[in-house]
Amino acid sequence: MYSKVKLTKMDKPWHLHACWLLVLLHLTSLPTEAQPQSNPKPNHNNNNKNMANEVEFSRRLAIFSINVYNQVSLLKPQENVVFSPFSIQTCAAMARLGAKKETAEELDRGLGLVSSDTKEIAESFHQVLATYEKSEILRIANKIFVMKGYTLREDFNKLLTEQFLSSAENLDFAQNTQAANTINQWAEQKTNHLIKNLIDPSVLSADSRLVLVNAIHFKGNWVHQFDAKATHPEPFYLNDVDSINVPMMNVKENFGYAELPELDATALHLPYKDSDLSMLIILPNSKTGLPQLEEKLRSTQLSEITKKLYQTKVVVKLPKFKAEFEMELTNVFQKLGMTRIFSDNANFSGMLESPEAMKVSAIIHKAFIEVNEQGTEAAAATGLVARTKRAIVSLTEPVKFSADHPFTYALVHQTKLPLFWGSVRQLDASSDTCPTSSLDHDEL
Ligand SMILES: *[C@@H]1O[C@H](CO)[C@@H](O)[C@H](O)[C@H]1NC(C)=O
Repeated sequence: MYSKVKLTKMDKPWHLHACWLLVLLHLTSLPTEAQPQSNPKPNHNNNNKNMANEVEFSRRLAIFSINVYNQVSLLKPQENVVFSPFSIQTCAAMARLGAKKETAEELDRGLGLVSSDTKEIAESFHQVLATYEKSEILRIANKIFVMKGYTLREDFNKLLTEQFLSSAENLDFAQNTQAANTINQWAEQKTNHLIKNLIDPSVLSADSRLVLVNAIHFKGNWVHQFDAKATHPEPFYLNDVDSINVPMMNVKENFGYAELPELDATALHLPYKDSDLSMLIILPNSKTGLPQLEEKLRSTQLSEITKKLYQTKVVVKLPKFKAEFEMELTNVFQKLGMTRIFSDNANFSGMLESPEAMKVSAIIHKAFIEVNEQGTEAAAATGLVARTKRAIVSLTEPVKFSADHPFTYALVHQTKLPLFWGSVRQLDASSDTCPTSSLDHDEL
């Protein structure tokens, strides 16, 4: 049953998409609060800069990811969360380049940026964006829509174009339906038509000045695919007793695997073909352990998990799943200490040629994921019981990794930089077992 994975042609690899959108509104009343002296913290390394910055960039993004993940989980405790921390951070960083004083400082802290120098911030993102500029697997696109009649400041525009590989386009936001259409079409095109209707026309008005959009689209095949014939209905536990049968994928292969006793969890590392991208699944040992795991992840570095991975034969069970997630992130940003950008005290005076008071009026993020045989699997009731004995018997006895209960996962670049983060808390007891019968999901 777990014999060789057949290398069949992939018609349904797994996809991830996210779209991020930030709308800046013109303020009718000018900020009145006195702005205290700025006090930026120079926290970048000067020696061995590129390398150090890259490591630091990843480390900080991982922390930001966990922070966002926890806030989102608190707000939507029952849902299968999926979002792109990188996408969110990129888009907000573009706005940061035009921010001044406390508005800038708040974003530096809240986003966990590597520096408070705009050039260095832009460079840190450029390294990642440039890596995937021509990638077939992962596509990242940034765009700025500017209200008709307004021009971006030269220096701001230069950073966006050269470092964020972005471009600007003028739109008449007063014609909100038309403007929303243009933005949505752009996002749809950049996500292989999987993210539709990102923005509602009602978000736009004659007061809108800038809309920053980031779209990310991932479509990859596993290095070790799951044999579709080994996918069977198996229980996925929603709690200690209740389970539903879901299409469980099975594979036995050499994978990076780690036991994480301090997290009361195990981790599995599933690489994607022709890339330095992989999926890291963190599975609580207990069927109901996800909330505690999420709590512990807040104070755990992603690198502490990945450095414990070792290659071993693993019997993997992972459910096929699909999730679409949409969220307005104002609340999350505020919880992370970024409040000023939404207030009348926001200072985005570095954006427009003719500065005027602006604030962020909406942050919309939409993401989509599909994991299948060319992607994921879980099952088997007591998969992890052999764990403590593994060291002794590993040569003959493969480790079991059964994602048959809620877990969390990240799609990572070079095992450290989280491009997507998500969780699977519940699954439909759908007839999805047969790949051709999933009529309840609108496949595109
Ligand atoms: C915004 O910041 C700039 C640059 O520090 C400053 O000159 C300007 O007065 C600030 N605007 C407001 C409204 O505080």
